[in-house]
Amino acid sequence: MTKIIWMTDPHFQNEGMVGDLNPRTRLKAAIDHMNTHHANADFMVLTGDLVGDDIEGDYTLLATYLAQSKIPVYPLVGNNDDRAGFRAHLSLPDGTMDDFIQYSIDTGEAQFLCLDTHMIGSHAGQFCAARQAWLTDKLSSDKPTYIFMHHPPMDLHLPPQDAIKLQEGDTFLDLIHGNVQHLFIGHVHRLTCGTVRGTPFATLGALSFQAPAPRPVWDWDSFVPAHEAPHYGVLYVENGNTTLQHTQFCAYDVGIES
Ligand SMILES: [Fe+2]
Repeated sequence: MTKIIWMTDPHFQNEGMVGDLNPRTRLKAAIDHMNTHHANADFMVLTGDLVGDDIEGDYTLLATYLAQSKIPVYPLVGNNDDRAGFRAHLSLPDGTMDDFIQYSIDTGEAQFLCLDTHMIGSHAGQFCAARQAWLTDKLSSDKPTYIFMHHPPMDLHLPPQDAIKLQEGDTFLDLIHGNVQHLFIGHVHRLTCGTVRGTPFATLGALSFQAPAPRPVWDWDSFVPAHEAPHYGVLYVENGNTTLQHTQFCAYDVGIES
């Protein structure tokens, strides 16, 4: 059995607030909760949007927070990340692509592919030919395959988030069709689950702010975070079966400062 803690979108800043949220308080609460209750997990995956605008300062302090984890941490890039800052401060597994933060975690029973969907200068995602070729090679494995990624490759009936999805989504879905057990996706700051061309997927609420439901209608100019508590995922993979538990690690008002 493989037990994985799945967290996403901490939007960590070494100082200041994200709206009325202190992202340092939230990340510490999540890691403390994980260390207390899930230190027996095999590893933690963090599916992107790790930092704010101060690339050097944010990654420097973020690394010290992640170092408090009792289990290995595997970070991915999101639209708000920076590959050079990421590599300078966070450790990555052997075999990570040279030009992209894309790598695999191999266990006895499965491979977990951590993809790089970052597109420089855009909030939307990109999955270019080089990243596609790497994935094609990995999909030739006989092991069951699970994918962690930041950008969803399809619409989720969440109009603001759908506008910044993975641009090469159709190509990506053609590539993985029939070859992947489950997709685990960040970016949307909201729980959804379902299937896409037969492949199960899940998105997760953020460690930081939560996106509201799509009704009443909102857009990025009128965006106000939902007053919903954050959570992380506890994922069990065993004999080809998958269970994802959503775990609230603190109350909504933890880290909210006026
Ligand atoms: Fe995000």
